[in-house]
Amino acid sequence: MSRIPFVAGNWKMNTAKAGAIELAKAVAKGATDGVQIGIAPPFVYLDAVAQAIAGSKLLLGAQDAYFEKSGAFTGEISVEMLKDIGVTFVLAGHSERRHVLGENSALVAKKAQAIYAGGLTVVHCVGEKIEQRDSGQTFDVVQRQLEELTPAMQDPSRVVIAYEPVWAIGTGRNATDGQAQEVHAYIRKSIAARWNKDFADRVRIQYGGSMKPENAGGLLAQPDIDGGLIGGASLKADGFLAIAAAAR
Ligand code: 13P
Repeated sequence: MSRIPFVAGNWKMNTAKAGAIELAKAVAKGATDGVQIGIAPPFVYLDAVAQAIAGSKLLLGAQDAYFEKSGAFTGEISVEMLKDIGVTFVLAGHSERRHVLGENSALVAKKAQAIYAGGLTVVHCVGEKIEQRDSGQTFDVVQRQLEELTPAMQDPSRVVIAYEPVWAIGTGRNATDGQAQEVHAYIRKSIAARWNKDFADRVRIQYGGSMKPENAGGLLAQPDIDGGLIGGASLKADGFLAIAAAAR
């Protein structure tokens, strides 16, 4: 089963307007066939970035979305609003939303389902904390987070899992090729059990957590690693495109 790799940059709360446009344009120039490349800038720059990359193959993503369609939800952004300006994929359940902003599993589930129901691609982030890994709970934690998705999500091209071990995010300490592959294989097996094998074979599973050009080749060569969700290393076009090239 060949899956088109998907490499996405999560810019988090970084860049200013001019720099965001410049970075987006530089990445767009390198977006070619063979691998899907996406960027998720801060909300306030999405519209300007959308215009800057119009006509390119670069996909535009958002870092979050609220599950309601509209209404009195101060500060929130709906899936409909994101679609309106050209966003095609949205993160759900990023570890910083779960562990810094305090999102619980029920909220993550509603967001993931709203993103999918709105016709966009959900990039659903899962991953264990270091104490959970050390006490042998990695698979259980990941399994519970996967259950935030439902088999009613039937289009495998619009369901992406990002395995991001919390201890590897922004720490410079990536999972080894073997550690990552072990969890990715578990995720695919779990999806096969809940949906079916064909669906599981088509779903892309990204690795995230201190991925950079120096370690991307080894990680992306693993059979169940289909791309990356890149934080720090996505803020420089050359390095980010080098990771994407390694996924091709
Ligand atoms: P880093 O690549 O900075 O470790 O961040 C990973 C991440 O959280 C992407 O969503």
